[in-house]
Amino acid sequence: MAELNITVRDHHGQAASRRVEVDVAGGDSAPGAPPSREAAPPSQDTAGPRRYTEGLRGQPRRVSPMRRRVPMGRILVEAGLISEAQLERALQQQKETGERLGRVIMSMGLASQDDIARAIAKQLGIDFVNLADVLLDEQVLLRIPEHIARRHHVIPIAADDSSLVVGMEDPLDVVALDDLRKLTGLEIRPVVITPDAFQRALSQYPVGVDQTLAEIRPAEAYEEEVATERLRAVAEDAPIVRLANQVIVQAIRQGASDIHVEPQEQRVRIRYRIDGALYSVMTPPKHVQAALVSRIKIMAGMNIAERRVPQDGRIEMRVDNRDIDLRVSTIPTVWGEKVVMRILDKQGAFVGIEKLGLLPEDHQRFERIITRPHGIILLTGPTGSGKTTTLYAILNRLNRVEVNITTIEDPVEYQLPGIAQVQINPKAGLTFATGLRAFLRQDPDIIMVGEIRDEETARIAIHASLTGHLVLSTLHTNDAPGAVTRLVDMGIEPFLVSSSVIGVIAQRLVRVLCQHCKQSYTPTPEMLKRVGLADLTPVPTFCRAAGCEYCSNIGYRGRTGLFEIMPVDDTIKGLIVDRAPSGRIKEAAIAAGMRTLQADGLSKVLNGVTSLEEVLRVVFVEE
Ligand SMILES: Nc1ncnc2c1ncn2[C@@H]1O[C@H](COP(=O)(O)OP(=O)(O)O)[C@@H](O)[C@H]1O
Ligand SMILES: [Mg+2]
Ligand SMILES: [Zn+2]
Repeated sequence: MAELNITVRDHHGQAASRRVEVDVAGGDSAPGAPPSREAAPPSQDTAGPRRYTEGLRGQPRRVSPMRRRVPMGRILVEAGLISEAQLERALQQQKETGERLGRVIMSMGLASQDDIARAIAKQLGIDFVNLADVLLDEQVLLRIPEHIARRHHVIPIAADDSSLVVGMEDPLDVVALDDLRKLTGLEIRPVVITPDAFQRALSQYPVGVDQTLAEIRPAEAYEEEVATERLRAVAEDAPIVRLANQVIVQAIRQGASDIHVEPQEQRVRIRYRIDGALYSVMTPPKHVQAALVSRIKIMAGMNIAERRVPQDGRIEMRVDNRDIDLRVSTIPTVWGEKVVMRILDKQGAFVGIEKLGLLPEDHQRFERIITRPHGIILLTGPTGSGKTTTLYAILNRLNRVEVNITTIEDPVEYQLPGIAQVQINPKAGLTFATGLRAFLRQDPDIIMVGEIRDEETARIAIHASLTGHLVLSTLHTNDAPGAVTRLVDMGIEPFLVSSSVIGVIAQRLVRVLCQHCKQSYTPTPEMLKRVGLADLTPVPTFCRAAGCEYCSNIGYRGRTGLFEIMPVDDTIKGLIVDRAPSGRIKEAAIAAGMRTLQADGLSKVLNGVTSLEEVLRVVFVEE
C-alpha cells in the first residue's frame, strides 16, 4: 500500500523505546483499588468466568512440610524450566534489585509468568488457577483485607465453613500462610496464580468503601414508597454522605469522565468511564440505592420527592485543589432512578496543540493552516473524537489582545479567557446562523462556529471567510476529503467551497498504552498484511495492553489523537470545482503528503504509543 506515510517517532518527536518494561511495582502503592476490567480488551478468551469451587472439595491438598523448605528457585530447576546457572544469575540479580524471584526470571526472559506458575503448581501437586476464568465473590474477597492481600500477593478465591482457597504467587511463602491462617481462623488451601492475575484481581476489591458500606444501616429505604422526609433523613446519614463523596472523589482521581449509578434487580452497579470505556467499580447492596441516589440528588439541587421524571442538576466541588463541575442527570428505570454524572474538570480541559498527539510533520502542517489570515478550517470526526478540544487549542494559540475572537457553540463547554463565547438558544431564535450573522457586525477576526449543520450556516460561514475572517468549524464526516464533498452535497456551489476552505483536519482518539506494563510482541504475517505493512523490514514489533497497578489494570492510560490533515492546495481546488468524488480528492491529498488516519494510527502502533487493537477499533472498522 503506497499510501502509508509512517513515522517511527512518538508525538514528542522522540524515538520510541520498543523494549518491554517489566512492572516492578510489587508493593502497596496506589491508594484505593482500581476499577475492574469490564470493557473487555480485544482478543480475550471467550468462555465467561465462573465460580471456582474445586479447591474446596476433597481432602485438602497441602504442600508437604518437606516441600515447604524448598525455595521456589529450586522448584523451577526441578521442573526443568531453568538451569542451575540461570538460577544463579537470577538469584544474583534478585539480591541487587530485591524483586521477587518470579519477576526476575521473567524479566531475564527465561520463562513466562504462566510457565512459572504452572511449573510450581505441578511440582507441588496443587492447582494452577487462571483467574481470568474465575468469578470472584466480593464476600470471599473481603475475608482477606486488601492491604494484606497486597502485602502477600494473595487473592482469596473460594471459602466454606472451614477452609479458604487462596491464590498465591508463591505458595511456599510460609509467612504468608501463617498470617492468613491466624487472620481468618480457616485452613488455607493454596493454589497458584500469576503475578498479572494477582494485580488484576486486586482491582475487584471494593473501592475503599467496604468500611462505609458496612456502616450503612439496612434502612427500609429501598421500598418503593418511602416518604420524602424519611428519604431526606437517610440520605443525610454520615455513611451515605461519605459513600457519595467517595464515589465522586475516586472517579476524579482515576481520571474518569462519567460516573453511572445504575439500579439493578439485586444490587446497584456503579461504573466509571475512563478513557472512553466503562468499568464497574462497585456493586453496593440494594438497600443503599434510594439513600445514595437521593444524596446525589440533594447535592445536585434536584427534587428528591420526584422520582418519576428525568431531572438534571449540577454539583460544584473542589477535589485535590481542582475545581470540578459535575453535570448530573437522572432517568427513571424499572429498578429505580439511574444517575449519570459527567465530570467537567475546568483546569483539565486545556490541551495545548503540542499535546494533542500530532506527529512532527503533521504539527507543521497544522500550524501552517491555522496561521493563515482567512478562510475556513474544518474539523471532522464523530462525537467524542476530540474536535472541541482541538478547536479550543487552536483558539487558545491564536488568542492575542490584538485579535477579536468570537464563538457560537452548543453548548459552551469551557470558558476561554479573553474570548466572547455565545451559546445557541434556538427557542429564543439564536441559532448558529443568526448568531453568525450578528457576529459579522461585531468586527471579528476569528470566528468559531460549533458545527455546520445546514446550508444556511455553511453559506454565512463561507461569506465570512471570503470577507477576510478566519472561520473554524466542525462537520461529521469520516475523513478529511469527505468534508468538502459534504459541503457540495449541502448545496454549496463547488467554486465557493474551493475558494473558502483552506484545510480540513479529521481526527479520532485512541487510548495510550500504559508505559509501565505494555508488552511487546511480533505480529503475525497475516496481521501485518491486513493492515498493509506486509513488506516492512525488519519485521516490526508492536505493543499490547497488559495491566498493572499504575494503570488501574486497564493496560491503557490517557488518550491521544490520530490526525488526517488536508491542506486545500491548487490541485484539490481543481478537483472540488470539477465535482470529483472524495476518493479522487483523497488520492491527490495523499500524493501531496497527507497522512491518513489509518497511517497515523499505524505510526503510533509502530511507536508503541498505542496498540493495533485500538487503531483497528477506531479507524479501520467504520471504513
Ligand atoms: N488530543 C487529545 N488527547 C487526549 N484526550 C483528548 C484529546 N482531545 C480530546 N480529548 C478528551 O476526549 C474527550 C472528548 O473530546 P471533545 O473535544 O469533547 O470531543 P468532540 O468535540 O469531538 O465530541 C474529552 O474528555 C477530552 O478531554
Ligand atoms: Mg464537541
Ligand atoms: Zn499499566
